[in-house]
Amino acid sequence: MPNALSIRGLTKRYDDSRRDRRRRRQPPGTGGFLAVHDFDLEIEAGSFFGLLGPNGAGKTTIISAVCNLIRVTAGEIDVFGEPHDALHARRIVGLAEQDVNLDRFLDVEETLLFHGGYFGMSRAEARRRAGEMMDVFDLRAKAGVRAPKLSGGMRRRLLLARALMHEPRLVILDEPTAGVDFELRLELWRYIRRLHDQGTTILLTTHYLEEADELCEEIALIRDGRLIARDTADGLRTLYNADSLADAYVRAMGSLSSG
Ligand SMILES: Nc1ncnc2c1ncn2[C@@H]1O[C@H](COP(=O)(O)OP(=O)(O)OP(=O)(O)O)[C@@H](O)[C@H]1O
Ligand SMILES: [Mg+2]
Repeated sequence: MPNALSIRGLTKRYDDSRRDRRRRRQPPGTGGFLAVHDFDLEIEAGSFFGLLGPNGAGKTTIISAVCNLIRVTAGEIDVFGEPHDALHARRIVGLAEQDVNLDRFLDVEETLLFHGGYFGMSRAEARRRAGEMMDVFDLRAKAGVRAPKLSGGMRRRLLLARALMHEPRLVILDEPTAGVDFELRLELWRYIRRLHDQGTTILLTTHYLEEADELCEEIALIRDGRLIARDTADGLRTLYNADSLADAYVRAMGSLSSG
């Protein structure tokens, strides 16, 4: 089976369009902001993978590249063996973005139905699945409520429900538990774990190291748009001679700034 995700030589330089460069009289490959540099990553099908790194490390940029939300400067990305921009590849990825970007004019159920339609689900299939998602994420009572009138945690849940609507094989969760209360966090963990047990590949970013330690089978540490290390949580503790993943993380990031 091909890997769920294969990223080779990904480079993203923001503000590097021909027009931008011409405006600044810069040659190709220069100028703008280099957010990700020659980044490689292979993620096996069925794994639970964590992408960790400080603010600005490039995590969301990498994810946005995978999901065709930004134009990449260089590199290749395959999803289950297909180019990431092919229609089928797009349809087997589900993304819960870091920014809660819900349409303020749609209610909970409409949000899910529209998404289903967008991903090619039939009306009946979308209705069935939307019902299922509202039950799973405890949103049934809010089916007719528009996004601005939901609580923050409910919006997070709706974002997840929407990402999972079309039953993607690769689920990408960009800080899904940011600002979520303790109880909901445990609930989300349980749900994401169950998805993974059913064979879904999960790519998670988080700033909660205990969350990564608890959930992820493998972790990549990134900083300044580059891969620093990739291993299991135990492997990272050993590699950095640390007692906890937090210690390993601090050492990994520290060793870089001093070197
Ligand atoms: N549209 C953009 N234009 C210019 N620079 C950008 C743009 N988006 C992101 N960047 C820059 O790219 C770098 C990486 O940002 P990115 O959002 O990928 O980081 P991140 O690892 O997701 O951080 P966080 O943990 O804060 O979410 C940052 O320095 C950021 O300012
Ligand atoms: Mg981010």
